[in-house]
Amino acid sequence: MSKQRFGILIRPSANRVYAESSVALMEAELEVLDRAVLGGRITDVESRPIGGVPYLTFSAEDLSERDVAFLSNLSSLYALFRLAEDGDALHPVGLHPLDRLDDDLLTIQKYAGKTNEYFTKLLLNVALWSSASGPHMADRTLRVLDPMCGRGTTLNQAMMYGYNADGVDIDGKDFEAYAGFLRTWMKRKRIKHTAEIVPVRRDRRLVGRRLDVTYGLSKKEYKSGDRRRLTVVNADTLRAADLFAADSFDVIVTDAPYGVQHGARNREALTRSPLELLARALPGWVRLLRPGGVVGISWNTCVTSREDALAALAEAGLEPFDEGPYRRFRHRVDQAITRDVIVARRP
Ligand SMILES: C[S@@+](CC[C@H](N)C(=O)[O-])C[C@H]1O[C@@H](n2cnc3c(N)ncnc32)[C@H](O)[C@@H]1O
Repeated sequence: MSKQRFGILIRPSANRVYAESSVALMEAELEVLDRAVLGGRITDVESRPIGGVPYLTFSAEDLSERDVAFLSNLSSLYALFRLAEDGDALHPVGLHPLDRLDDDLLTIQKYAGKTNEYFTKLLLNVALWSSASGPHMADRTLRVLDPMCGRGTTLNQAMMYGYNADGVDIDGKDFEAYAGFLRTWMKRKRIKHTAEIVPVRRDRRLVGRRLDVTYGLSKKEYKSGDRRRLTVVNADTLRAADLFAADSFDVIVTDAPYGVQHGARNREALTRSPLELLARALPGWVRLLRPGGVVGISWNTCVTSREDALAALAEAGLEPFDEGPYRRFRHRVDQAITRDVIVARRP
């Protein structure tokens, strides 16, 4: 079969998030998807304007339904077109994103220190596709951990995908704000659920508190007993290995503290070097991953180098992905933050 040419229209808001890096990040995300899940069938990736608007174009033999389903989840994809052989006519390709819930779950909360929701989706996608569970993105209920989850952007994206999600954060205000938000949102959306906050004890000592939520993606699923779980523990992530069962997560994804203060809030935790925290926390996180599971971390390269971050992952027994597209996620966020992504797999 002859090759066809396709064009991805990038979500307009991606330019606000990534400035001039949006096309390069989209290209790297597409290449990870292609290598890991689509079988390397995408070629001649090129960014070019069509009608004065930037598109990411590529060649592929006709895309299957499965291919389109995966492409539909690219974090900055707005629309997908097949390009006419001659000229610039665009034929829309129907999208089938995995989204199981309303997308205001990700956009309503606004606070200093929030990780942008599109970047969070990119990080989760890249980790997921690089894991043994990547090909099953749409046909299994996967389990995701964010061990420094803040007010839950990663957890919300995992819920959007219909997955079970768990989080840990040391900040009590974040814990309360997220628990309050989630309860209100579920009530307003009439999502059948139960939610409770319970104390967490180890050796009879109180180590934190846990939000336990059980819900149905639809009323029908809830009734039939097909339910999803979300838990958030307000505790130090250094305790993560005591909080969850070993070998139980498909991916662990986190946006590490930036080593700079967000807004006016004085977070004691941020005075620690993110590298030291990562090095100490990683052995516990690794125990929670399934074999073939992946850790994906974003962090600020202005305070910790890529080499040091890679060394910490390798030291914890993980195999980092560090070539091709995996080296092209670095981008500027603001004057004090240049963010990068690293991904490593548990053998
Ligand atoms: C960059 S923020 C993550 C923001 C989150 N992705 C969101 O969108 O809300 C880093 C988080 O790490 C948390 N943190 C720092 N040290 C921690 C520790 N030792 N244990 C658990 N969480 C920690 C902070 O409280 C903060 O919420």
